[in-house]
This record gives sequence, C-alpha cells and structure tokens, in this order.
Amino acid sequence: MDHLTLTRPDDWHLHLRDGAALAAVVGHTAAVFGRAVVMPNLKPPVRTTADAVEYRERIRAALPAGSRFEPLMTLYLTGTTPVAEIDRAKASDAVIGVKYYPAGATTNSDAGVRDLNEARPVLERMQEVGLPLLVHGEVTDPSVDTFDREAVFIDRVLAPLLRALPRLRLVFEHATTREAVAFVKDHAQAAATLTPQHLLLNRSAMFQGGLRPHLYCLPVLKRESHREALIEAATSGSPQFFLGTDSAPHGRTTKETACGCAGVYSAHAALPLYAEAFESVGRLDRLEGFASHFGADFYGLARNPDTVTLVREPWHVPEGYAFGADTLVPFRAGETLGWRVAPEARA
Ligand code: DOR
Ligand code: ZN
Repeated sequence: MDHLTLTRPDDWHLHLRDGAALAAVVGHTAAVFGRAVVMPNLKPPVRTTADAVEYRERIRAALPAGSRFEPLMTLYLTGTTPVAEIDRAKASDAVIGVKYYPAGATTNSDAGVRDLNEARPVLERMQEVGLPLLVHGEVTDPSVDTFDREAVFIDRVLAPLLRALPRLRLVFEHATTREAVAFVKDHAQAAATLTPQHLLLNRSAMFQGGLRPHLYCLPVLKRESHREALIEAATSGSPQFFLGTDSAPHGRTTKETACGCAGVYSAHAALPLYAEAFESVGRLDRLEGFASHFGADFYGLARNPDTVTLVREPWHVPEGYAFGADTLVPFRAGETLGWRVAPEARA
C-alpha cells in the first residue's frame, strides 16, 4: 500500500503556546489536522472561559491565510475555579473540557490543584453537565519513583475519583503505562490519548548513545512492556483510545541545558509518526478510527467532512525550525520518515 486516505484527523491534545512560539508552530498542526484540543498551561494559565475565548482569537490570528483549522479550548482547573465557570464553559462554543494538572507535575503546572477535594463541587458540576475532565495522570509526591507516578496516581487519585463521581467523563491524557490502559478499559466513561513518542519509543531511547534531551517529556517514556500495551490499545479498534500528540514545543536552549524542559515537539510529522507506529504491527487499517473518528465521537462532535492522504515516500525531517529567537528541534530531527502527508492536504 503506497497511499492511505483518511478522514481528516484531529489532535486531541496539543500545546500551542502564545506569541512568537504560537506563530512558529501552529501552521504545522493546521496543515493536516481539522481541529485540536489546545492545552491551557500558559503563563498565566487559561483559567476562565473569557481567557479561552481571547486565546482562541490569538490562535486564529496566527493561522495561515485561508486555514479552516479549529482550536478547541480547555480551562485550567485550580483550587479556586468557581462552579459558575463550568456553566460558562459549557454554554460557550469555545471550551470543550477542563484540564487537571496536579500542582507541580509538569511545565507551568504551579497553579494546578493541590488537593482534588478543593475542586469537588466543580467536578460534580462537570459530571452533571457532561463537561469532560482532561487529566495529567501523575502524582507529584517526590518519594514516588518517576517511572511509577502514573500507576500510583491511578490508585491514589483516579480510582477514588471515579468511584465518587461514576458518571464524570474523563480523558486520561498521554497514557504511558499498561495500568492506564487497563484503567481506561475498565471505565466506560473514560478515554485516553496516546502520543507518537510513547507508541514508538521506550525509555532506553532517552539514553541511547548519550543523553537525549529532546526525548524527555512528562510523563517520561516507560519500559518496553508498557509501550507494547499502548500499541495494542491504539491499534485494538477500541474507541476509548485516540490521537493526542502532546506536541510541546520548547526552544533548543531550554532543552539542551543543565536542567532541561519536558516536552517533545511532534506536530511537524504527527500523522506520519502514527502511521509508522500502526504499520509496525501491521495495523494501518486501524489508523483512521484512532486518528479521525474516535476522538470526535467521544467529544460528541461531527467527524471532519474531508480527507487527507498519506503517501509512502521518504521525507527528510529538518534539523530545526525557527522558533522566535531560538530554534525548535523536532522529533526525529535530521532523520528520514517513510510516510508523508500529500501536499494537496497542506492547504
Ligand atoms: O512533556 C510535557 N510537556 N508534558 C506536559 O505535561 C506539559 C508539556 C509542556 O507544556 O511543555
Ligand atoms: Zn500536554
């Protein structure tokens, strides 16, 4: 098979940043994806529907002329988010979910929730009105090993949460472990996004031939048996697992430094990377559901009306992209991928 035509995909987890960084990256996503769920971890975070509407305007203003890309906005849950904000979000045409970052778990998460009990009335309201909770699923307890933080989060936080609020719709963002896959399968109201790097790589890749800061993201890459569980979930045909790149741009100088930022930039090559992952297990036939159907279905949105075509053709990934005054080193920089998106889709 040399061509694969799919319903236009959507990216259900994306970091677009703001200002010059936004302008540098948004075109990559907008060239291929119909829509993307835009993460709210700006500085300061996107806390209110009004913030989200303004941010959506800045994203739209940064799009290439003629783009029909649609940003789907999220709110950043804090210990002081009022219940009324949930009603405003639900009533808006901008906000499709609320992101829960445990405070301190990752980039710009300081304003996140310290104790989920603080947010209980807000979560109850979300359950009532059917607004999904998008979860960064890691405990921040420094005594918990980095590689165990997702599994421990399920036991300490998520399982009790869904016992208390059994109808809360939940997206387990960037799931990285077999425990997360099992948890999602056990809860019909839950779904998970899966990133290209967690489908393609295990944790050894971070240390192959030396330290690879551009492969450092949170949650961190896990061991091979977890990667296999993720691939199995992604290619299973289950509508509970769908595409979310977690593409997270950071300038080269903030990655190649003594204390580097977490985040892998994959928006430039997202669909070819997922195609590679699916093809590795002979399951290209399941890519369309994962990339283009199941996320829209979960969020109750129409699937995109048009298509994109992947072509089996070597594509050389640039060493870097301009990123304000810095450079952005993309996933697979300088390497050759086996698939590319046909140019006619790059309107
Ligand atoms: O690696 C990550 N980068 N994980 C996150 O959760 C946040 C993201 C970012 O914003 O850079
Ligand atoms: Zn993210």
